[in-house]
Amino acid sequence: MTRTSYIIVVMLLGLSIVSLIACQGAPGNRVAIDPATDTSLSTKHVDLASALNSVDAAGALDDLDADLYARLSTELKQVLIDLYGDDPVARRNRLAAAVPPSDTSRAWAPQCTSTLSGETTLYFRGRHVGDYNMDGLVSVSDITPLGFHFNKNVTVDADGFPAANDDNEWAAVTDGNEDLLVGISDITPIGQNWDSRLLGYRIYLGIAGTDESFSWDTEYQPNPDDAGLPYSLAFSDSREPSQVQLYSYTFTRPALNPGETLWARIVPFDGTIEETPTELPVVEGAHAPQKCQICHVVTDYSFREVANSCQLCHATPPEGGGAWTEAPGMHSMCLSCHTQHVFTIDPPETPCGQCHSTIASAVAAANMPQCLGCHENSHLPNNSPGNAACTTCHTEPPGIPGGNWADAPGSHSNCALCHSAHQFAVSEPNAICENCHADKYGSGHGDGSDECLSCHVSPHLPDDEP
Ligand code: HEC
Ligand code: HEC
Ligand code: HEC
Ligand code: HEC
Ligand code: HEC
Ligand code: HEC
Ligand code: HEC
Ligand code: HEC
Ligand code: HEC
Repeated sequence: MTRTSYIIVVMLLGLSIVSLIACQGAPGNRVAIDPATDTSLSTKHVDLASALNSVDAAGALDDLDADLYARLSTELKQVLIDLYGDDPVARRNRLAAAVPPSDTSRAWAPQCTSTLSGETTLYFRGRHVGDYNMDGLVSVSDITPLGFHFNKNVTVDADGFPAANDDNEWAAVTDGNEDLLVGISDITPIGQNWDSRLLGYRIYLGIAGTDESFSWDTEYQPNPDDAGLPYSLAFSDSREPSQVQLYSYTFTRPALNPGETLWARIVPFDGTIEETPTELPVVEGAHAPQKCQICHVVTDYSFREVANSCQLCHATPPEGGGAWTEAPGMHSMCLSCHTQHVFTIDPPETPCGQCHSTIASAVAAANMPQCLGCHENSHLPNNSPGNAACTTCHTEPPGIPGGNWADAPGSHSNCALCHSAHQFAVSEPNAICENCHADKYGSGHGDGSDECLSCHVSPHLPDDEP
């Protein structure tokens, strides 16, 4: 996939997650299917006679009211006749209340945690619209649980997710048309997804880099049982509160180069066909348990901008002792150094050369350690690190075992007087002495030559009587 089409995928992703979130608890946002243009149902082949037979042959579990069961069963037959019979008007009326087929078993509300050491857990809610008894298959048995929850109101939280109390989440599963009331119209999704199966979810990973290459096709999580296949999470039928159709999958995040981000794709799988995937970035580090909304506007997934996201929590630079307003240049614009979703910078000097390119090449040529060895604080960098920055590494004067900087005479321990920043190496060692000892030049001192270091040996602890 090219970068361009990747971006389109990403845009679609943003929209699709938004629409998923928006659909929850906001039934007015449901995208109705236009029967004139949508062929997915008209081409779906359902053998109406055997479907109706299976409804007649089935019966409710004992503790469900027989009259209610009869009513649901009659309605289901009507739905099947409307959808798969010959009357186009009846089909159109049914479809107006239908769930978009592409969303039948799409993973939703995906989140992830990823520790700095790379252990990553994806978790998401499964759904298989119409499969109210959660056995993986949409069939006549799904009217029984609908009966058990009949007339219940489903409660959702501010984000539209079913609240985890008692059997509210299971009731939410039976609310196939998502109008927050379990009722007769939730039969339609059973008919619409009749006979559809969900075996589980497959997990793919994709690495988005700064170059053009990006491929979902090859980057799947290998299946421990068959390395030639993507890993699958088996269908979950858990009905425990807060566990209903909750899936989690843990893996070790592959190593990423600077600027790369990892994306996960969760694909519903019916044993043969992969259905519409859900994609999300793997958010690394401390932010992972947070919801996407802390940094994004949920309506269009745009970034909230630094002041309304990063700085809400990171009110001052993490090293302390200053304010973001004191940061020089672009040092308060988080995204010029921190890339999205993997916020740690390793090694920390990775971004410095983007803007300080001359300095970066000088430092590299000097074979010196990187920027933060001397500047320490990347947000409020001190612009003139003193001697202490040098002597933490050069603990003693070079070339003089056991020597001590404290024994250096006069200015001989003040590094910056002889070593210029970033260049460091002294290009003409014997000439530099003239800055302070001009009287020794051309005066016949010593043997009269200017090769001061031939007698005084060390520029750092010069012997006063060689
Ligand atoms: C700690 C903040 C933070 C969190 C949490 C976060 N993001 Fe982002 N996201 C960003 C930043 C920063 C960008 C880059 C914005 C920019 O460059 O303008 C971004 C970019 C994106 C993009 C566009 C990607 C691209 O390459 O163009 C998408 C889509 C996205 N995020 C989705 C998500 C989803 C889904 C979640 C939750 C699983 C999430 N983000 C969580 C900060 C965050
Ligand atoms: C909801 C609050 C919140 C928001 C918003 C937020 N952060 Fe954080 N961030 C945290 C917490 C909490 C930690 C862990 C403690 C710490 O290091 O301060 C953290 C840690 C970090 C770290 C250390 C590495 C890591 O992942 O542990 C970086 C870097 C970072 N944040 C950058 C950013 C940037 C850049 C943004 C904006 C795109 C941002 N944060 C938005 C709360 C937030
Ligand atoms: C000039 C580049 C640059 C900019 C701009 C920048 N950071 Fe950082 N930030 C770094 C580097 C480099 C590190 C890693 C430092 C290290 O490992 O010693 C870091 C580390 C951090 C940490 C983790 C500190 C810790 O102790 O673990 C946080 C939190 C953070 N940055 C937040 C922010 C926020 C918020 C912004 C924007 C307001 C921002 N940074 C802007 C370069 C930058
Ligand atoms: C997005 C561009 C950008 C990046 C990336 C960047 N800087 Fe800067 N930096 C600036 C600008 C602009 C200034 C102010 C002008 C100047 O002094 O060159 C500045 C100033 C500085 C200063 C002088 C501070 C002062 O008070 O005058 C130091 C030191 C510094 N940066 C170090 C770093 C280090 C270390 C990194 C990597 C962690 C880094 N910069 C990354 C743009 C950047
Ligand atoms: C070995 C120590 C050391 C290292 C490594 C180092 N610097 Fe510096 N840097 C200094 C010193 C000392 C000064 C002060 C120079 C002065 O006062 O004239 C300075 C000054 C600066 C300044 C402000 C003055 C200027 O020249 O613009 C910037 C910006 C800067 N450094 C960026 C960087 C960046 C970026 C890196 C890494 C690529 C880096 N430094 C690596 C020691 C270092
Ligand atoms: C984080 C550790 C560290 C700090 C801080 C540090 N240095 Fe270095 N320095 C080194 C290392 C490592 C070398 C490379 C030694 C080698 O090549 O054998 C080096 C090499 C040098 C060289 C020889 C350069 C050359 O081209 O041969 C000079 C001169 C020097 N440092 C001066 C300084 C000065 C001046 C400071 C303070 C501004 C300083 N160093 C800060 C670790 C450090
Ligand atoms: C009076 C000038 C002067 C001062 C002050 C000075 N140096 Fe030097 N330094 C030199 C000269 C000249 C050389 C080159 C020596 C040579 O070529 O034999 C040098 C070489 C070095 C080297 C490289 C040694 C090698 O074997 O490659 C390091 C490291 C170094 N200095 C560190 C420091 C540190 C750290 C300080 C401050 C604590 C400092 N110098 C103060 C003049 C000075
Ligand atoms: C930045 C100024 C400066 C530079 C450059 C400098 N010196 Fe010095 N030097 C001093 C000062 C100040 C003293 C102490 C006062 C004095 O004895 O004149 C001193 C002292 C000395 C001494 C006497 C040492 C003692 O124990 O009394 C010698 C020898 C010497 N320097 C040699 C050199 C040589 C060789 C160079 C070039 C590699 C050099 N100096 C570069 C400032 C400098
Ligand atoms: C042939 C060896 C030799 C050479 C070359 C030499 N010196 Fe000396 N230097 C000495 C001797 C011997 C002494 C101590 C006796 C004296 O004061 O003449 C001394 C002493 C010094 C002193 C400390 C006493 C004072 O007079 O202040 C300084 C400073 C000094 N030299 C600087 C230099 C400088 C700078 C150069 C290079 C231009 C240099 N020397 C070249 C042999 C030499």
